[in-house]
Amino acid sequence: MTVDTEVIPLARPVLGAEEERAVVDVLRSGQLSLGPRVPAFERAFAERVGASHACAVSSGTAGLHLALRAAGVHDRDEVVTTPFSFVASANAAVFERAQPVFADIDPRTLNLDPEAAAAAVTERTTALLPVHIFGYPADLPAFERLGLPIVEDACEALGAVDAEGVPVGGRGHAAVFGFYANKQLTTGEGGMVTTADAAVKERMDSERNQGRAPDMDWLDHDRLGFNYRLSDIACAIGLAQLDRLDELLAGRAAAAALYREALAGIEGLELPCEDEGKERRGWFVFVARLPRGTDRDATVGALRALGVQSKPYLPAIHLMTYYRETFGHREGEFPVCEDVAARSLALPFFPGLSEGQVERVADALRGVLGQA
Ligand SMILES: Cc1ncc(COP(=O)(O)O)c(C=O)c1O
Repeated sequence: MTVDTEVIPLARPVLGAEEERAVVDVLRSGQLSLGPRVPAFERAFAERVGASHACAVSSGTAGLHLALRAAGVHDRDEVVTTPFSFVASANAAVFERAQPVFADIDPRTLNLDPEAAAAAVTERTTALLPVHIFGYPADLPAFERLGLPIVEDACEALGAVDAEGVPVGGRGHAAVFGFYANKQLTTGEGGMVTTADAAVKERMDSERNQGRAPDMDWLDHDRLGFNYRLSDIACAIGLAQLDRLDELLAGRAAAAALYREALAGIEGLELPCEDEGKERRGWFVFVARLPRGTDRDATVGALRALGVQSKPYLPAIHLMTYYRETFGHREGEFPVCEDVAARSLALPFFPGLSEGQVERVADALRGVLGQA
């Protein structure tokens, strides 16, 4: 079946005249990289999340890599993390020839379960890598009690607040944000690592720039490094996005509230958990779990035919081909994650999603699930 109505996309960035002006200013300045917008964006971002320092990088993945290196992770070390995440969080450990050791997730928050993580720690564990999945804050106080270095994957969690009322990124551990086009704040591609540790900031600044100290000659390098720099063009867009971040976050929260109401009557459909205590989700995606026994691929296809984009999100990392073949993972290892991963479906979600669009999605889903 085809429809003549507009297709509702999964994601849509909000960019306007401010971003345009900011980019044009950089182009006119002639300083497209290693210019003043980089430290300006870093300072403004650090202030926003309550961090002492921030290091702008070319992607969230690059930020995770640098943060794990700064935490001392290297060959044959183990990093305890969640299998329910975007693949980059586990891959970052593999970049350093370390092994991601997975532990199961909490069925309410879908974040790494602190008890399961504690049970996975061995004498080779060098770091914990909790992910604030779908923008819901991981249980940082519980992870801190395990006494190991922590790198937070906050790529999906700008705007989130943890159980102690601290904004994600402001606890002092390295916390890594991502600015890909579907994120709360976007620079097209990009990322940021926040930290309370000046030495970590200095090391990441150098490693993102080929291992060069700020006072070195251009072609001298005193450590191994990478090109993980973020351009001034991207940082200018980031500054403009930061100026309107409250509006962007409120727009996502409003879309989530519309979904909660519109989807409430669908039997067997599980919605993202509500905030508890001081915890606040930084809304990133709206992922529902389909009723048990539903054919998810057929659901995606039927929704597409009705002009509604959706996506299975997220698949379990340990069951991906690379992880099965490299580390020997199999079905059944992490039952909560596997159940959630098999039923999760991301629905169209962005600031400005209208009530009418949400109703169209809800009607389509109700019909496809045979509950119209
Ligand atoms: C949880 C998580 N970790 C890491 C990343 C990687 O970020 P990037 O795509 O900016 O490299 C993403 C982004 O998609 C993510 O959602």
